[in-house]
Amino acid sequence: WSDLAEKGAQLAAVCDVDAAKARAAGETFRVPYYLDAAKMLEAERLDVADIVTRHDTHRPLAEMALARGLATIVQKPFASTWEDCIAIVEAAQKANAWLAVHENFRFQAPMRAVRKVIDSGAIGTPSWARIRFRTGFDVYKTQPYFYDEEQLAIADVGIHMLDLSRFFLGEVEHISCETQKRNPRIRAEDTATMLLRHQ
Ligand SMILES: NC(=O)c1ccc[n+]([C@@H]2O[C@H](COP(=O)([O-])OP(=O)(O)OC[C@H]3O[C@@H](n4cnc5c(N)ncnc54)[C@H](O)[C@@H]3O)[C@@H](O)[C@H]2O)c1
Repeated sequence: WSDLAEKGAQLAAVCDVDAAKARAAGETFRVPYYLDAAKMLEAERLDVADIVTRHDTHRPLAEMALARGLATIVQKPFASTWEDCIAIVEAAQKANAWLAVHENFRFQAPMRAVRKVIDSGAIGTPSWARIRFRTGFDVYKTQPYFYDEEQLAIADVGIHMLDLSRFFLGEVEHISCETQKRNPRIRAEDTATMLLRHQ
């Protein structure tokens, strides 16, 4: 949000239930900080709520922001269950408020460049694609909660791949998937091979 200051964005306040993190963010960005989202929404005059907690808190926090009519951005994965996803969308419709999932991969410069090539017609209408994401980066170090997640590869990075495939090739009408768990220390899948048929 600091990077967007030139375009008129102004970070108004931050919130985290972890007091040390809330204070650190407040001091770093020189804005009021809160430990309770409800109190922040009560005390501050906000236009946008950017919800960057993990999926299990997305629904209550999004409903709280949307009930106040705030434009609301929710990090991926959008919510923990399909029912929660629907509830958030309905809350936005009821409040007539703008709602977005923070799906950032399609906005990255290399991905936009790929889309530009497709749009230029240089390769004709794409009829087949392989989109792959593998990394040696130690995700368990930066996100240790991954060990206990009930859903992992698809919910974390897989959804970025699914969104990219929609961005490049259009909507999907059929999907099948095989998952594997290679790391014995985790609960969920760490590999997903998905086959998509696009409209
Ligand atoms: N789009 C991307 O590229 C990308 C990259 C990394 C993470 N993410 C997503 O961002 C989200 C957060 O991931 P993370 O690794 O930063 O998690 P994290 O657990 O490190 O951070 C979440 C923070 O939310 C705080 N929190 C929890 N409940 C709260 C509440 N009710 N009110 C206020 N604060 C609360 C926690 O104290 C914690 O500081 C996840 O959904 C993750 O998938 C997206």
